[in-house]
Amino acid sequence: MKRILKWALAIVVVLAAVGFVAFLYFIPPLTQMAPEEFIQEAGGVPPVSGISDPAQRAIAERGRYLVLTADCGGCHTTQGPKGPEPAYYLAGGMTFATNTHGTVVSRNLTPDPDTGTGSKSADDLKRVLRSGVFPDGRGAPPLAMPWPGTSNWSDEDLHAVVTYLRSLQPIHHAIPAPKAGRGDASVPGAAEVAYSLDAGKK
Ligand code: HEC
Repeated sequence: MKRILKWALAIVVVLAAVGFVAFLYFIPPLTQMAPEEFIQEAGGVPPVSGISDPAQRAIAERGRYLVLTADCGGCHTTQGPKGPEPAYYLAGGMTFATNTHGTVVSRNLTPDPDTGTGSKSADDLKRVLRSGVFPDGRGAPPLAMPWPGTSNWSDEDLHAVVTYLRSLQPIHHAIPAPKAGRGDASVPGAAEVAYSLDAGKK
């Protein structure tokens, strides 16, 4: 009897070990995927288009690579009911409730003149990435718009990013103005992507 129990136990242990190894083998290797491959699966990123000069095109390609690998689209792509909307890549709209900088919404980075970056100068955009300061002097919340991560990028890199953003198809998508005061995590339609940052600070 004891022997049977021993064997049963051994079989259970072996099966559990085999099952665990199979689980590790078959789970999708999310963290090992190249960002390009991952984004492709999530709907794809438009290639650089509309630039015929090869030198300018190479700069825009570099900008696209930086935007892709820094995952700017993770926050700047409009969310639909089923997640990011590929047709609204970088068109903004994700809400962040922060305790220090109020409620802010990721901006439309496409060059639409009314709702995007079309009417902003390259220097305006670079300044946000370098020091988190908007033209009106307002500071961007560093945890919602992670400018500390881009503040050490070289001038060439920032130029490349702006060149790429300028090459995108303009998408008309209005972004609500930031709201001062304590962040409001219950903004309608954005609750699932709104979260509280800088907890505990006032
Ligand atoms: C974690 C989310 C998040 C990520 C990642 C992110 N951003 Fe932002 N971004 C925001 C938010 C939120 C704002 C608006 C901040 C505000 O209004 O205070 C913003 C604003 C901006 C602005 C200002 C646009 C304007 O109209 O003035 C630029 C430019 C920008 N982001 C570029 C980028 C780039 C380039 C990347 C990738 C390197 C990036 N962002 C990554 C959330 C993010």
